Amino acid sequence: MTITITMTKNKATILAIETSCDDTCVAVIEAKGQKSPRFKILSNIVSSQVEVHRKWGGVYPTFAKREHQKNLVPTLKKALKKAKMLEIFNKFSNFNFQTLKEILSREEYLLKESEKFLKKYQKPRVDLIAVTIGPGLDPCLWVGVNFAKAIAFFWDIPIISVNHTKAHIFVNAINKKPLTQKDFPAVCLIVSGGNTQLFLMEDFKKYKILGETRDDAAGECFDKTAKILGLSYPGGPAIEKLTSQWKQKSSRGRASVILPRPMINQKNYDFSFSGLKTAVLYNFKSQTLKTRKNKQYIKEMCYEIQQAIIDVLIKKTIKAAKTYKAKTIILGGGVSANNELRRQFNYKLSTINYKLNFLVPPKNLCTDNAAMIAVTGYFRWKKIKKAEKWQDIKAVANLRIT
Ligand code: KG4
Repeated sequence: MTITITMTKNKATILAIETSCDDTCVAVIEAKGQKSPRFKILSNIVSSQVEVHRKWGGVYPTFAKREHQKNLVPTLKKALKKAKMLEIFNKFSNFNFQTLKEILSREEYLLKESEKFLKKYQKPRVDLIAVTIGPGLDPCLWVGVNFAKAIAFFWDIPIISVNHTKAHIFVNAINKKPLTQKDFPAVCLIVSGGNTQLFLMEDFKKYKILGETRDDAAGECFDKTAKILGLSYPGGPAIEKLTSQWKQKSSRGRASVILPRPMINQKNYDFSFSGLKTAVLYNFKSQTLKTRKNKQYIKEMCYEIQQAIIDVLIKKTIKAAKTYKAKTIILGGGVSANNELRRQFNYKLSTINYKLNFLVPPKNLCTDNAAMIAVTGYFRWKKIKKAEKWQDIKAVANLRIT
């Protein structure tokens, strides 16, 4: 089969697959327009593995890969159904699955399920398949990449590879007011479980990394400190919930425990969160068994952990925005779902004496999802003006922004 481009110039329906960490995600979106495209989400399904990983307090890559294999076909089915694109074949066809067998030779279970699915359902009306190739967990990325290649080959649909970090930025283009050239230069802060990066975006194509974490990511710090305090995974939402309860009850309005704000006053734009995690561990260990179980103590620690992370993120981002005369600050990644981070960013920006746009995705698009991969796939297709050969697409666990 040959790969043909069927997209018209200004419109495309994109099917996207994302398996970089512990969520199996499939989405279908419609994209329209050239300079500042508009997007409509037809479906955006996330199959979460949180329950599988909860007992380890973090993601266990081997189990995550196994779960992606189990979840990919059902998640694709749900996404196509929601987008009204799931149609059963009305006549029997004799398919040749030889190449599919080669592509999915390392994913036996997924191969079996894919064969059943592809025999039963027709090719959807999709112009492009977008898939995350990195950064992320290597075994998880490969399952999604191989699955995307298999269906792209089988259905003869062009395929395009997507950088997960860029997708956390481009998802902001789904907002009512799409990004345009006037919004640049922009300073972007990507804060997730595996990434804390600050970079400058001069336009849709030009990126420069200003700084990044030297050890743990901000989300990882939320997850690991939550584990120390005996809270559930993922730690970010658990800490956020207890923080809001502590603030309501306290008359003092500030914590008596003071945790470090690592690197907050350094001139560079790098971050470090492992020292904060260690400070939490030492503080916790220094308490009596009774205090360690005391709800007020746990809530107070949560407040201080969250505030320490917020203080560092906001200070460094606003400093970068001022230095580079940014017109926009763009936030993305799972941690950007945090209400206090969003509120305090808005407040700090309101106290600055010039106008800075603040873009943050809707909460359901902050954490991993495939709609963001579809949007970014569309921009990338516009940029490189062609799809890629499915044979060339590979997972790159440590993929950087260029
Ligand atoms: O972007 P994401 O879904 O996955 C990747 O790491 O790529 O981010 C997950 C991270 C986890 O560390 C989780 O604890 C954190 O985002 N997170 C939050 C919140 N929701 C998710 N952190 C703080 N506050 C939240 N509301």
